[in-house]
Amino acid sequence: MIVGSIKEDLGKEKRVSLTPETSKNIISLGLKVCVEKNYATHLGISDNEFKKNGVEIKESSKEVFNSSNLIIKVNCPSESEINILKDDTILIGMLNPSKNKNQINKIIEKNIKIFSLELLPRITRAQSMDVLSSQSNLAGYRAVVDCVAEFEKAIPMMMTAAGTVPAAKVLVIGAGVAGLQAIATAKRLGAIVSATDVRAASKEQVESLGGKFLSVEQDEDLETAGGYAKEVSENYKKKQADMMEEALKKNDIVICTALIPGKPAPRILTENLVKLMKPGSIIYDLAAEQGGNSAFSEAGKINTVDGVKIIGVKSLMNSLPLTASSLYAKNLFSFIRNLYSKEKKDFNINMEDEIINKSLIKKM
Ligand code: NAI
Repeated sequence: MIVGSIKEDLGKEKRVSLTPETSKNIISLGLKVCVEKNYATHLGISDNEFKKNGVEIKESSKEVFNSSNLIIKVNCPSESEINILKDDTILIGMLNPSKNKNQINKIIEKNIKIFSLELLPRITRAQSMDVLSSQSNLAGYRAVVDCVAEFEKAIPMMMTAAGTVPAAKVLVIGAGVAGLQAIATAKRLGAIVSATDVRAASKEQVESLGGKFLSVEQDEDLETAGGYAKEVSENYKKKQADMMEEALKKNDIVICTALIPGKPAPRILTENLVKLMKPGSIIYDLAAEQGGNSAFSEAGKINTVDGVKIIGVKSLMNSLPLTASSLYAKNLFSFIRNLYSKEKKDFNINMEDEIINKSLIKKM
């Protein structure tokens, strides 16, 4: 059985699905691995490093597809890639099924089994495969680094002979995976950090990282059984906006990470709220690609309104593709280890396994 991977469209995606390390791990399961020539040279990883770990280098993506029983990718294959995908293979990636419905249906028509790792259940056994967590954690870190680079003042308090520089104030909206890492990173840099979230359970996590939790009074439980947020009522939105009014006047940097799975990003910062911030402040919107938590945010752009910079994030993982690839490749290895049966020497699509069942895309 052969696992293969081709180059992504480098104009859009710098991450890769296989590293020399994970190739070796996959080979140790009893599988073979092949990649397209110059697979990760843009990341400083030569074909030789793959070869040393037992990987076969193929001249073209077509050769990889023709040789492989299982293809691993970062993004959904393009039309031209779908045309050369071999029937009856298995495809694994972050395929964003709701956005790529047409491509996915074409792939299913070729009798290809598709696993999309964003669909994995968030259970303990799937933690090592959890691509959303591995990538969002990096996003939270990178959000702070980007804000610091864009902010025209220092972050930590500094007492110098020339005078005292006050610490910057950072507010994080949404204390999930990205939000908690943003809090931790901003704290490490010496910022005064506060955060808010609709899930009452997140208060303790924010405080354990040294952040101040800004609560909105609520009677209803806004957390689903799966640990995600529910959509909030108009009454909650009003109370949250009142709380934000005060918070936005005081904070220098706001990092937005609020998300409700499968829904457009909740709009939390209205135009009026944004305009309450001091000139020179920054809003960093991680949810920009899903519509944005903030007014004036556009994916891939920095818009300045009354001196406030609103940064709309796009393809953030391309800013740290090596770390993102290393974690994504490890997530994939864990998934393949669960899918491959050493006894049968074949992939075992056991629909009673919640991990397999939930991540396999059925007809859309
Ligand atoms: P998550 O689900 O772990 O966290 C989202 C948090 O938002 C949850 O704690 C939830 O309770 C909270 N929330 C929902 N509605 C809220 C509201 N109205 N007010 C306050 N809090 C609310 O999500 P994760 O993985 O941390 O992702 C955060 C965002 O970052 C998402 O929009 C995601 O798409 C984006 N992201 C973007 C990347 C990029 O490359 N552009 C990479 C990774 C993540």
